[in-house]
Amino acid sequence: MAKVEAKRTAARARTKSSKAYSDRARRSLPGGVTANVKYFDPYPIAMRRARGCRLWDLDGNEYIDYCLSFGPLILGHGHPRVVKALRDVLDSTGTTMLGTPHELEAAYAERLLRIFKPEGLMRFTVSGTEATLHAVRIARAYRRRPMIGKFEGHYHGGVDEFLVSHAPSAAEAKRGLAATSGSRGTPAHVLENTLVLPFNDLAATEARIREHADRLACIILEPIERSFIAPDRDFLEGLREVTARFDIPLIFDEVMSGFRVTYGGAQHAYGVVPDLLCLGKVIGGGLPCGAFLGRSDILELADPTKDEFFHSSTFAGYPPAMAAGMATLDELEKPGTFEGLLETSRTVASGIERRLSDEPAPVQVLRVGSVFSILFTDRKVRTTRDTLAADGGKRAALDAAVLDRGIFVKPGKPLYLSTAHDEGAVRQTLDAFGEAISDVAG
Ligand SMILES: Cc1ncc(COP(=O)(O)O)c(C=O)c1O
Repeated sequence: MAKVEAKRTAARARTKSSKAYSDRARRSLPGGVTANVKYFDPYPIAMRRARGCRLWDLDGNEYIDYCLSFGPLILGHGHPRVVKALRDVLDSTGTTMLGTPHELEAAYAERLLRIFKPEGLMRFTVSGTEATLHAVRIARAYRRRPMIGKFEGHYHGGVDEFLVSHAPSAAEAKRGLAATSGSRGTPAHVLENTLVLPFNDLAATEARIREHADRLACIILEPIERSFIAPDRDFLEGLREVTARFDIPLIFDEVMSGFRVTYGGAQHAYGVVPDLLCLGKVIGGGLPCGAFLGRSDILELADPTKDEFFHSSTFAGYPPAMAAGMATLDELEKPGTFEGLLETSRTVASGIERRLSDEPAPVQVLRVGSVFSILFTDRKVRTTRDTLAADGGKRAALDAAVLDRGIFVKPGKPLYLSTAHDEGAVRQTLDAFGEAISDVAG
């Protein structure tokens, strides 16, 4: 106990500027943050600058970044190609945005469609949330129906219906698949029109879809749950078949998985093609950007000359985001780059698992592509429900112990890799995890 207290005191002394910042920020921002996900106890570490795979906090402490802004920074921070693309677009346009159509929009749309939906159409948005929001709206417009199907434990952004049952507690999970509000203030009609489905359970999913087939406008899911729980191939194929049979548009939310499981997302990795697809994170190259794309007969509803489906946005197609996104894809397409990222991800995830296996408690590292998570459980993890069995206290102790050793992991969250994580960073990471075990056991 005394050892734990001494470590806490040392950590607080090392990060006293973050504490001071947090105290100040709480006076203007609830919790001292602008997004709940950025908060952690006792106060989040505030960063001042970043480069490659490294971050430096307000006190000058250095960290290897395994959060990467929750996924987008697949080339790490400030990649020279991305920074140059940003400078070039600001120079060539002479402004930050034009507020009219511009050449980068169609150039980038053509490129993304070639990867994801060659015969389709798309629209840009400013975030992943907006992409999923509009994908669902356009599906509703297409099927002229109110209800959506979503999977328990899946996150599609901070919208009432997407927050339904997105993070069930153990008690809620025991109550079955009832639609549970994820945020105070959720209207009753949202719960009534959101059908909750069980991931990786095709028979139960099919039964629920069949029961509500004449009310469902679409089914949306993260094809890779929380980006580290893989789908059974039969599950995705079966879901595709069932939704096609009932003519219910199937939406893949690939905001996270788009360029992380493989280049081209889960639809390529698992060979299942949805009707609509949502992108975000990596496609903005570190700037805010999202997209929804898919079947032309659905997307055409957004054609303004038809006046059927309203989609608008002041910032969609933001030129610097288009330029940074395309530069990111240029870099990822360089021979060997993506394979190298996957190889590094394998090395880090398996290395951590090996080091943690010295710990007496059961532990597993679940990885899909360049994302992984660490769970203290021996239960086979096929859904969010299985993760509820994991020992959260041990994971919190591990996160704190590696943070003390210069590894920035957002507590409790998955870890993301970038092409900037080099051999030195990998070695330092594995050493830190090796040393951290004693704190977790203690
Ligand atoms: C799968 C998925 N969909 C949608 C979103 C929302 O994206 P954004 O935070 O850009 O609005 C996220 C964000 O983490 C996500 O992981």
